[in-house]
Order: sequence, then C-alpha cells, then structure tokens
Amino acid sequence: VEDTATGGDHRRRRRVLFFPLPFQGHINPMFQLAGVLHSRGFAITVFHTHFNAPDASRHPDYHFVPVPDDDGGTPTPGDGGAPPAADTLHVTLERVLAVNRACEAPFRELLAALLEQRRDEVACLVADAHLLTLLDVARELGVPTLVLRTGSAACFRIFMAFPMLCDMGYQPARESELDLPVRELPPYRVRDLLSTSAAGHAVMSEVISRLVKAVATSSGLILNTFDALESAELASLRRDLPAAVQVFDVGPLHKLSPSPATSTSLLRQDRRCLDWLDTQAPASVLYVSFGSLASMSATDIAEAAWGIADSDVPFLWVLRPAIVPGSGAGAPPLPDGFLAAVDGRGVVVGWAPQEEVLEHAAVGAFWTHCGWNSTVEAVCAGVPMLCRPWFGDQMGNARYVADAWRVGVELDGEIERGKVAEAVAAMVMDGGTRRRARELGKRAAESVAGGASGVNVDKLASHIMAL
Ligand code: UDX
Repeated sequence: VEDTATGGDHRRRRRVLFFPLPFQGHINPMFQLAGVLHSRGFAITVFHTHFNAPDASRHPDYHFVPVPDDDGGTPTPGDGGAPPAADTLHVTLERVLAVNRACEAPFRELLAALLEQRRDEVACLVADAHLLTLLDVARELGVPTLVLRTGSAACFRIFMAFPMLCDMGYQPARESELDLPVRELPPYRVRDLLSTSAAGHAVMSEVISRLVKAVATSSGLILNTFDALESAELASLRRDLPAAVQVFDVGPLHKLSPSPATSTSLLRQDRRCLDWLDTQAPASVLYVSFGSLASMSATDIAEAAWGIADSDVPFLWVLRPAIVPGSGAGAPPLPDGFLAAVDGRGVVVGWAPQEEVLEHAAVGAFWTHCGWNSTVEAVCAGVPMLCRPWFGDQMGNARYVADAWRVGVELDGEIERGKVAEAVAAMVMDGGTRRRARELGKRAAESVAGGASGVNVDKLASHIMAL
C-alpha cells in the first residue's frame, strides 16, 4: 500500500470522512472512492445511516460511525431499499430530504465527538451531493467539504441549468412538447430532462437547488466520469462553477478501486450465473438489469419476458426481489409458461455480480435502465446497450449512449413484447454499435492504464492534503 498521505514519520496520517447516500447506486461509487484514497494512504471513516447500512466486516481497515436516521425509514428485508410505492422517483426524493433532516442532530454530535479525539487527523468530509444539511454541519464544525456526485457531468450541467429550463418553460415538461430538442443543451430532448409530474415538480426543484448549493459551497466536486467520455461537459462545469470549486473527474472508479464490487452490495449477488455464462458462446448473451430502484408492473415483466423469449437470444435477467411494488421480498412473478418456453436458454437471478457479468466474454448486449453506474460499467466493458430509462438522470444517460457516443439504441415508450423481441434481436446483430462500444471501451481502458484517471486521483489527493 502506497502511503503518501502519512507524510512519513513527521506528520500524522490524514483521515478522510465519508457519508454516502444510502442507496446502492450511491454507496458503490462512494466506497470505490474510499478504496482509491485508502490505497493512496488515507485513513477512512465512514458515517452511515442504519437504513441500508454497509457491512463493516467487509472493510476491516475502515472506521464506521452509524448515524441514527429514524425518519429515513426501515428497509424491507432484502429489497435493497426500493421504495414500496409506484412513484419511485418521488418517494426517493422525499427520502433524500428525510435522511438530511433525521441525521442532522446526531451527525453534529457524532462528528463533534470524533473531532474532539482526532481533529488533527481529519482532512475533510466527502459526502454525497444530496446531503447538503450534513455538509453544512461539517463546515460549521470547521471541517472542509468535498462533494461526490454519483451521476454524469452532463447531468450536473442540467442541474445547474434547471432555473433556466424552468424560466424557458421546458420544466415541468408538457406532454405535447416531449419530443422537442432542448436547443440550449444538446443532445437532450424535453423528455430526457429530469421531468416529473407537475405535482412532483416542487420537490424536484428543491432537491436540485440543494444539490447545486452543496457543490457550490464545497471545495471540490468529484465525478465518476472521465475525459474520453465527457470532455465538453467537464469543461463546461469548470467554466460555470465558482473558481473555489475544483472539479475532479476520477472515473471510472470501479476500475481504479482495489475493493471488490461484492464488498458493497446490499443484496446477495448470485455468482452461479457466471458458471452459466462460461458455457455460452462469445458475445451471444443479452444481460438484462434495471438497477436497484426501478419498479415494474407485473404486465411490464410479462411483456419483457415474452419479448426476450421471442427474440431467441440467450439471456441473463436480473429480476430484483420486490421490483413489483407491494409484492414483498419473494421472487417477482414471471408469466406462466415462460420458463418452459425459453427451455434453458436463459437464467433469471435476483441480483448478479454485475461488473463481472458485463466483463464476461459471453455477454453481447445489455438491456439497461441507464443508471450512471451501469452505464459507466457497460462503457468500460465495451458492451452495447439497449436503453430503457425509468426516471431522473437515466433518460439523459440514455440520450448520450444512443446519440452522443452511439454505443446503444433506445427502446421508447411502453414495454411491449413485439418491440422488445425486435430490438433485442437487432441489438445482438448490430455490428456498427458493437464496434463503437468496443472502441469506447478501449478508450476507457487507456484512460485507466495510460494513467489519466490516476493523475486525476493524485490531484484530488494533493488537494485534500492542502485543505
Ligand atoms: C440510482 C439511479 O437510478 C441512477 O440513475 C443514478 O445515477 C444512481 O442512483 P441505480 O438505479 O441503482 O442507481 O442504478 P446504477 O447507477 O446503475 O447502480 C446500480 C449498481 O448496482 C451498479 O454499480 C451495478 O453494478 C450494481 N448491480 C446492479 C449489481 O451489483 N447487481 C445487479 O444485479 C444489478
């Protein structure tokens, strides 16, 4: 272990405090970043909620501080934190605000206690961009703050432009204007913005203005992205943010972090699917997963299932327990006759070791919801994507996949079996998209191997040492 942060015998080891937002798509990159900084010699303390708490035993070198968060809700066992209501986005945003409220007082107390013992060691707090209240608490107690935003640079650009988008009438979106281009921010269309119902607009506006404030009042924005993917977007953020906020593009974090992906999974990853992939031909399998939060109706599942069956393509499908709201933690309902119809041509699991799956030679395409982590993981693995975004930043990510990088295609509208079968079969056959996906994957690998990502991590480490 390189130990640059100890500064030899003369100085004390510097400690970085982390506070992830307690959702899988936010926990993974936060722990990957912690792993990267730990390997640069920093000591690590992780503050976390009881809700979706990390498993401390998988990180014996880290110091964990549980923060009571009664308002944050109690997860249904094994559901990975999926809200039990149909409007997942709205419920998730409300929960984000609730976590801030519930943790404020206990975090203040616990951080003050830690500072009493270790003030000299503490370099800074790195918190999720959604945790403005807790970032404010840290600053009030004299701790410098950095923000990890777990989405793309392009998405943060949309957050910064949100007041303009509202003034110009793009948000909240009107049904009749969904296909219009957002001329100020190509390649977005109105439907790719963070649109929510008019009723959800108030909470969305509040959450976005808090995100922007969290970044603007911190001394750095850390993004899980890299120049080969988002150079123009990164340049625009560097231009538009206050000069005191440095932007660190330290992605792809999952390729830089020494910790295995299994160490932060909230659900048990079913590794048997890797053995099944070993038996399949190269680039032949469709991998299907919609991340940790998206919900589906039983009808959507049936249409997706029959579409996959009719495509005649081998598949590995992640159907998370409780993906159907209100269905409990049992296995989600597959339509009668589906398993007999596919006759061993595919495997359905509750949760997969996704990074390893995407890197497996047998995987030829990824039907994804375009969560940012899934998108970056697929880009790095060089796997083309069939994009079916659900909410939030996912539509914008899909737009980049399909129109900016051209490494995938979008499946628009309702999930319908005929459309699914056609799109899946076309995707697996499409040589052009596959070639571009492989090329982009190579550029990502060069960014890691060629050191650009590592240089940016070094810059971040120096910045932290200087705070
Ligand atoms: C959420 C939002 O949906 C996403 O848009 C935002 O950018 C981050 O927060 P989530 O829906 O969970 O995240 O999607 P994603 O960002 O793709 O993260 C899912 C993570 O779970 C990935 O790191 C993926 O590797 C992992 N995963 C997924 C598994 O380990 N196993 C699986 O079976 C599926």
